[in-house]
Amino acid sequence: MSEKLVGFVGYRGMVGSVLMDRMQQESDFAGIDPVFLSTSQAGAVGPVIEGQETVLADAYDLDQLQRLDTIVTCQGSDYTQRVHDSLRQGGWNGYWIDAASELRMQDSSILLLDPINRSQIDQALDSGIKDLIGANCTVSTMLMGLGGLFKNDVVEWAQPDTYQAVSGAGAVYVKELLQQMQTLGQATTEMLDDPAASLADIDKKASQTLTSSDFPINNFGYPIAGNILPWIDSEVTAGQSREEWKAEVETNKLLGLSALQAIAVDGTCVRVGSLRSHAQAVTIKLKQDIPLEQIEQMISSAHEWVKFVPNNREATLSQLTPVAVSGTLDIAVGRVRKLSLGPEYLTAFVVGDQLLWGAAEPLRRALKIIVERG
Ligand code: HSE
Repeated sequence: MSEKLVGFVGYRGMVGSVLMDRMQQESDFAGIDPVFLSTSQAGAVGPVIEGQETVLADAYDLDQLQRLDTIVTCQGSDYTQRVHDSLRQGGWNGYWIDAASELRMQDSSILLLDPINRSQIDQALDSGIKDLIGANCTVSTMLMGLGGLFKNDVVEWAQPDTYQAVSGAGAVYVKELLQQMQTLGQATTEMLDDPAASLADIDKKASQTLTSSDFPINNFGYPIAGNILPWIDSEVTAGQSREEWKAEVETNKLLGLSALQAIAVDGTCVRVGSLRSHAQAVTIKLKQDIPLEQIEQMISSAHEWVKFVPNNREATLSQLTPVAVSGTLDIAVGRVRKLSLGPEYLTAFVVGDQLLWGAAEPLRRALKIIVERG
């Protein structure tokens, strides 16, 4: 039995449950002594791990937390705000592995995406960094897809325009999309079954349903079924959303680039009605004209999870979509071609499961790295 006492907070949410599944699949619990903590149900029965029943501890009990070697939290930034600093001020020197954004841009933290920045992670651990934070899911999936170009230092700037799945916003948003789809379906079923109904009438009925005051929009505030929402999260600076702001700052921090080396990364982040897996169309200005075969080689050889999709209709529609990628560790990269803007202008389309590589997987792997370091 290892001496690694590892606390898990927020293990039942969307990211947390994907993390639990992956840890079970990879037998990661064999290398640690897990403790499950809850912000609301201390004392209740926790998950069964390797045949052992567990009881939930209180996630706000600082004395309890002080005993842990490592804390892995998928609970969100409010929990991090409430607990992290008090714990550190109380002398706790364990590893804090966090999916939330709260600590991402602190100098005392490192961002996790080891297939892309393992050397930065190792350096940070060697230098005593103990706050290990998962990056934003669109940034992580973009870098998992195109990290080979960044690492070969051929990117002058990048413009990711995103198509983000509703599960990125949380479980209630998934339910609301499905409720909206159901409402639209119910409103039009009769007309769809009636061969005499005109398309104009069906369209009118669907449009009326989308804008009716009964349409279920409690969480989104707007229809997402039959619609797109080109704003995610709060406003940071004039006209730029927080999701858009994260692209540049987190990409550069994750790659370990200084202010002088920083690469401009900015685009428009859009919520769409896909269920799971974030997609993005990334326009890249290359530092010089590089042949497409070399580009493909750089992208594909970055790590084993890149799935390079040939730029044709059949391969694209069958392999380069959220439906094709969801639930897998594949990062699909396709539609790679030079734009008519000039030979240095490249476009690529990246699709990755934002709950796996975008959130749970880098955390799971960070825990493993720490356990293996001893
Ligand atoms: N902010 C992301 C989204 C979630 O809303 O899709 C993962 O960082």
